[in-house]
Amino acid sequence: MGEIVRLQKYIAMSGVASRRAAEQMIAEGRVSVNGKKVTEQGVKVEVGNDKVELDGNLLKVSSKKIYIALNKPAGYVTTVNDQFGRPTVMDLVSKEIHERVFPVGRLDYETEGLILMTNDGDWANKVTHPRFESSKRYYAVLKGVLTIASLNKIRRGVYIDGKKTSPAQCEIMEIESGMTLVEIVIHEGRNRQVRKMFEAVGNPVKALRRVSIGNVELGNLPEGRWRYLTSGEIGYFMNK
Ligand code: URA
Repeated sequence: MGEIVRLQKYIAMSGVASRRAAEQMIAEGRVSVNGKKVTEQGVKVEVGNDKVELDGNLLKVSSKKIYIALNKPAGYVTTVNDQFGRPTVMDLVSKEIHERVFPVGRLDYETEGLILMTNDGDWANKVTHPRFESSKRYYAVLKGVLTIASLNKIRRGVYIDGKKTSPAQCEIMEIESGMTLVEIVIHEGRNRQVRKMFEAVGNPVKALRRVSIGNVELGNLPEGRWRYLTSGEIGYFMNK
């Protein structure tokens, strides 16, 4: 007899999505077990025996876990498929990585820098779940000169979409030609958070690059290239 797991865990184990994203897929009616559509959560399936399909495609549970860091260029979307046919982060890894991996969290189309990819849904959950508060460090080029008052607002928290951001570390690195280069570290991952934070103080972001997540550094990884994470980097999130 194979391992008995909840359906959302099976989907995460198959490497197509995180467990939370899998719950959404189930709710949307995209998942079937042994030919029957399942929309309630928590249904149990047996690995190696039950036939689980997503959008009609059979999901297999592979045991080889892959963890990579990619330097995403601007102009790529962080999804597996794009409805508008734009280049995706998958295009940058699929020639060399044959296992199905998916992006952990998101970077905006026009944002560049570090994005993690894996086929381990539980690990992805730990990296992105707000409870684990993984720190994310960015360099941002801002329009205009950021005042000390605005810098302090960013540090204390600003209201975006009606909710205050949690305290952030932020330093001014350079002011030149009417632009400000800042380093900012946040522990949340709200939609377009860094852009919205600086917009809220009147200094829109002109360019944004993520340079680290937890203990994983972008370092000198060339744009558009990827590398495997070290066991120390993987373990950092695993043990959270
Ligand atoms: N904050 C943003 O505004 N964009 C990103 O891509 C990441 C964080």
